[in-house]
Amino acid sequence: MSSSRKNETLSVISERHAVKSYVKDFKMPEEDLEAILTAAVEAPSAWNLQHWKFLVIESEADKQKLLPIAYNQGQVAESSVTIAVLGDLEANRNAVIYDQAVEAGALPAEIRDALVGQINGAYQNPQVARDAAILNSALAAQNIMLAAKSLGYDTCAMGGFIPAQLIEQFNIPARYLPTMLISVGKAQVPARPSGRFPLSDVVVKGSF
Ligand SMILES: Cc1cc2nc3c(=O)[nH]c(=O)nc-3n(C[C@H](O)[C@H](O)[C@H](O)COP(=O)(O)O)c2cc1C
Repeated sequence: MSSSRKNETLSVISERHAVKSYVKDFKMPEEDLEAILTAAVEAPSAWNLQHWKFLVIESEADKQKLLPIAYNQGQVAESSVTIAVLGDLEANRNAVIYDQAVEAGALPAEIRDALVGQINGAYQNPQVARDAAILNSALAAQNIMLAAKSLGYDTCAMGGFIPAQLIEQFNIPARYLPTMLISVGKAQVPARPSGRFPLSDVVVKGSF
């Protein structure tokens, strides 16, 4: 897929592809991991509830523990780190984020209270909570992949893992739902080409 418009951001987006083979033992500098995770939390989220948690799996022992959980997909063992992106099923509790704005005088307390009421009302429905956890944490996941690419790394998002085993083996609290795994590292073998449907197939202007 290509368009005539080009800039650095668009290039990073178009150059990101799922890499399955990584330079083993490449240790990612901590500052790069931090930059990638900072990009993750800069994702937008509904009501700014920041429905995410990131479990960083980087020790050799943890990678080996993850390998069978991820159906022995080699990228979790070879890459520098695998980030388990978790969605927060109780993100309504994160409405405390508004307290800062109230204290700073940027948000009236009554507005905060009205918002918290709406949010807690919506979170009475577990389907709403689950959909929001997946939707919003997936936005953070995409930021991880693009930030990593911009720093010279490659990634592979994975839905191929056994959530119940991930939860059990890594002590993930019931509050969090695994959304996807993302391996991050230095590519050993470039990604296989992947096709895209043309815009004419996927874009509908106006109305169906
Ligand atoms: C939610 C999700 C789950 C995926 N699961 C896997 C997976 O388990 N194993 C794998 O090798 N690739 C996985 N992929 C990568 C896709 O196969 C890949 O993104 C797609 O084929 C398009 O290729 P590209 O990313 O290289 O452009 C997954 C991607 C996403 C977004």
